[in-house]
Amino acid sequence: MGEVIAIASQKGGVGKTTTAINLGASFASLGHRVLLVDLDPQGSVASSFGFTRYDINAGILDVFLSDMPIKEAIHRTGLYNLDFIPTNLWSDENERRRLVGSASKIKLKDRLAEIRDGYDFVLIDCPPSLGNLTFNALNAADSIIIPIQCEYYALKALGRFLKLTRIIKNDSNPNLSYRGFLLTMVDLRNRLTKIVIEKVRYTLKGLVFETMIPRNIRLAEVPYYGQPALSIDKSSKGATSYLQLAHEILGDGRNSSRYAADKEGVVEI
Ligand SMILES: Nc1ncnc2c1ncn2[C@@H]1O[C@H](COP(=O)(O)OP(=O)(O)OP(=O)(O)O)[C@@H](O)[C@H]1O
Ligand SMILES: [Mg+2]
Repeated sequence: MGEVIAIASQKGGVGKTTTAINLGASFASLGHRVLLVDLDPQGSVASSFGFTRYDINAGILDVFLSDMPIKEAIHRTGLYNLDFIPTNLWSDENERRRLVGSASKIKLKDRLAEIRDGYDFVLIDCPPSLGNLTFNALNAADSIIIPIQCEYYALKALGRFLKLTRIIKNDSNPNLSYRGFLLTMVDLRNRLTKIVIEKVRYTLKGLVFETMIPRNIRLAEVPYYGQPALSIDKSSKGATSYLQLAHEILGDGRNSSRYAADKEGVVEI
C-alpha cells in the first residue's frame, strides 16, 4: 500500500507545490508509481504539467462531492509513473463553498483508499490555509513534509500548524508522523541564510531533512515549461536536489535515511 504524504504549511509561497511536482517526478524517475493530488484551488499542479482548466473534466471537487469512481479523476502527466488528480474547485463557486465549509474531514482518506494500492507514493499538495481541505489532507496522510522558506521569520507561522497536527494525531489519525521539515529556496551566498538554517535545525531538533533545496531558476521555470525540473534540465541544482531528497526519503543509501516517526513530541515552538 502506498504511503500518503501531505505537503503542507499554512504559509503561502514556501515551495509546497514545487516540492510536490519535483519530488513526485524524482520518485517516478526512480521507478516508483506516484499520484499527485492537488487540493489547492489555485490549481498549480495541473498548470505545472501544461494543463489548462479546459483540459480537465473531473477533479477533486468530484472526488469530494460525487460518487464518481476516483479513478475517473486521475489524469496522466505524460511522464512515466506519474499521475495526478487536479483541482477543479474553480468550476462551481457554490460547490466550492460547500466543500471548503462542510465536507467530512475524512472524505479524502476514504476516497484514496480505493486507489492507493496502485501507487507507491501519493503526494497531496495542500492550500496555504488550515481549513477543511488541509484537515482532510492530514487525516488522509501517513506523514507530512513541511517546506520552510529560508528567511528570517521562517519559524514564526509554524506554531499553529504544529498544534493542528497534534490535534489531528490525538483525535483522528494517531499514525500521522513528520517525514520532515524541508528547507527551501536556500541561497548559501547570503549570510542570513546560514543563520536561519542553524536556527531551524536547532529548534526542530533532527526533524529537518539533510537535503536542502536551493533557490534555482529551473525550479521557478516549472510552470512556464509545464514540466518538472528533471525534464527541463536534469543536471540543474533544482532537479538534483529533489532527486537527493527522494533518495533521503527512500533511505536507499544514496543519502542518509531519517524517518521522524517517533519524534513529534520534541517539537515545541
Ligand atoms: N527552490 C526554488 N527556487 C526558485 N524558485 C522557487 C523555488 N521554490 C519555489 N519557487 C517559486 O516560488 C514561488 C512559490 O512556490 P510554490 O508555488 O511552490 O509555493 P507554495 O507553497 O505552493 O505556494 P502557495 O502557498 O501559494 O500554494 C513559485 O513561483 C515557485 O516557482
Ligand atoms: Mg501551492
